[in-house]
Amino acid sequence: MRRKKIAELLESTDLGSEVTVMGWVRTRRDSKGGFSFLEINDGSTIRNIQILADDKLPNYATEILKLTTGCSVIVKGVLVKSPGKGQKVEVQAIDVKPIGWADPDTYPLQKKGHSLEYLRTIAHLRPRTNTFGAVARVRNALSYAIHTFFQERGFIYLHSPIITGSNCEGAGEMFNVTTLDLQGIEDGKVDFGEDFFGKPANLTVSGQLEAEVYALALGDVYTFGPTFRAEDSNTYRHLAEFWMVEPEMAFCDLKESMDLAEELIKSILAYILKNCKEDLDFFNRSFDRDLIQTIDHTTTNSFERLTYTEAIEILSEVREGFEFPVEWGKDIQSEHERYLCEVVFKRPVVVTDYPKEIKPFYMKVNEDGRTVKAMDVLLPRVGEIIGGSQREDDYETLLSRIKEMNLDPADYWWYLDLRKYGTVIHSGFGLGFERLVQFATGLSNIRDATPFPRAPKSLDF
Ligand code: 4AD
Ligand code: MG
Repeated sequence: MRRKKIAELLESTDLGSEVTVMGWVRTRRDSKGGFSFLEINDGSTIRNIQILADDKLPNYATEILKLTTGCSVIVKGVLVKSPGKGQKVEVQAIDVKPIGWADPDTYPLQKKGHSLEYLRTIAHLRPRTNTFGAVARVRNALSYAIHTFFQERGFIYLHSPIITGSNCEGAGEMFNVTTLDLQGIEDGKVDFGEDFFGKPANLTVSGQLEAEVYALALGDVYTFGPTFRAEDSNTYRHLAEFWMVEPEMAFCDLKESMDLAEELIKSILAYILKNCKEDLDFFNRSFDRDLIQTIDHTTTNSFERLTYTEAIEILSEVREGFEFPVEWGKDIQSEHERYLCEVVFKRPVVVTDYPKEIKPFYMKVNEDGRTVKAMDVLLPRVGEIIGGSQREDDYETLLSRIKEMNLDPADYWWYLDLRKYGTVIHSGFGLGFERLVQFATGLSNIRDATPFPRAPKSLDF
């Protein structure tokens, strides 16, 4: 008989029917009356199904009484009404077959209540805990909601390359890709002509430049894929490998792009409120008592919009408590971002028009000549979730910006061509997917928002 997933069984009203459940034992409790309760989980829901196994089963003493946390089993039985609290149905076992044992003396999840830090060291087993099962399901639902959002609006999903020869953000925080034997290279004498591509290559930091190519042909496109940053930041919100969602829209200015960003965040959060209720209840209970309220508040209230200059004015009134100085021309740090969202406005905030010196070359320069048409969306707790801009669409201005930033125009010949042939106003942004997962789950460290986190000096799996 085909197995039924526990999520489906727990909602079933087909009492008396014969069912097959396959999963992993969470707990076993034995009753004096000659029967045992097994709690089984199969990952389809945070809830377990209760199995009632009595001592008339032929392998009761030899096998069932030896089942411990982590063992895998196949259970055949009858779905019955549960007299117990907390579940409507349970399974009266006809047959309980152990498949894989899990030695309780060595199985790391035998005991409950491990710290998140410890669980990171057993990333191969942590999805079997309530927390990481729930993270995986919420992450999945967020991805689905993102694709749905864009597909319903006629955006084309673009697969931008992972290996590139360009550096989108214009900073030196890239992982090189090479087939050269690094052991055999003498100091400073790398001949990239001998390398696989005959030139330096790196893992992409963003799919934006390629998304612009396709936006200027197809109108509205989006990428959703892995991106890589070799910045040496060991923080609660940085990963070396993370996923980014990058819509890029032709015939779209900064204001319209901000509207889309706000709509996107609201729409995907509304989706999980509706479809991930049990998992969110769990996070609300276990990690952040205000979680559901915060998400709900985000979906129903308008985001505050202000310029960088206005943000600096507000922040410079704050006399104490900041580690980093507040000064026009300096970047807004995560502590400032959180202060704006959590203390000043008590809602998500969109900051626009940053000084051009602290933003990449491709952002459209404002009429003032000092600021660019940039926007960052900030959320409570995680700070910057989205970075975006209207793109420079004027050939000459873009060329001089590239030179100003000491980049080589020859590296950007095709990007410049887009402004030479049929240029149009266009805008886009990048949403950090793991930061979204962090926000949606209430988990404080981004390393718990992705299945196998990559961070400086940390690549265990
Ligand atoms: O602000 P960023 O650097 O923007 C870009 O890469 C643009 N090219 C996007 C675009 O306009 N298409 O990154 C975008 C978002 C950030 O707001 C943040 O949420 C996330 O990506 N992010 C990171 N997330 C985890 N770990 C890191 N190291 C991250 N760096 C950026
Ligand atoms: Mg940014």
